[in-house]
Amino acid sequence: MHQAPPSHIKALSPDFETPHFKQALSRFATGVTVITTFAPGAHKGDSASSSFVGITASSFNSVSLTPPLVLWSLGQGASSAPLFHAGTHYVVNVLAADQLDVCNRFAFGKGDRFADTAYKLGASGLPILDGALAWFECHNRSRHEEGDHVIFVGEVERCGFSDGSAPLVYQGGQFSTTTPLA
Ligand SMILES: Cc1cc2nc3c(=O)[nH]c(=O)nc-3n(C[C@H](O)[C@H](O)[C@H](O)COP(=O)(O)O)c2cc1C
Repeated sequence: MHQAPPSHIKALSPDFETPHFKQALSRFATGVTVITTFAPGAHKGDSASSSFVGITASSFNSVSLTPPLVLWSLGQGASSAPLFHAGTHYVVNVLAADQLDVCNRFAFGKGDRFADTAYKLGASGLPILDGALAWFECHNRSRHEEGDHVIFVGEVERCGFSDGSAPLVYQGGQFSTTTPLA
């Protein structure tokens, strides 16, 4: 249940600038995902273009095992934001270390990001990217506006994973992969 803290206790104004905040956040190592959904009516008249959109997101995390819930957050300014709000489903694809090109395409690519991307359609008809380490096919359960982002909570209808591949890791503005500690 949503419970707000006592209303007479307000947060202090930050004593730092946004770049400092971003640098502190960047110390937290994350995996990297590409999240895909429908773009109904997109690219009309261009048969070479797909009807999907996708974005690179490192804000993915788990929420609940029962029911199976995950979350991620989307910048309000993303051009795909209206589609992620309206769509009933999306797929979270966890990228492998050899998918840095896919990561960059879905973060910075212009035009149809799926044109050079190999994928198969899942049960919901959305792209599951070839080579993904894991994928979560989600019902778009709820959205929560907070600051300049919207938190999406997805209810996982189906998921899958592969063994043996290394993950793509993002930390300190750089990409790497994992090495087990001795
Ligand atoms: C490593 C990495 C992680 C990112 N994580 C997020 C994220 O969690 N949420 C987000 O809104 N944008 C994130 N972005 C930026 C989006 O990928 C980018 O703004 C988006 O693809 C813009 O697409 P659109 O405007 O066409 O929707 C990330 C970018 C990179 C390179």
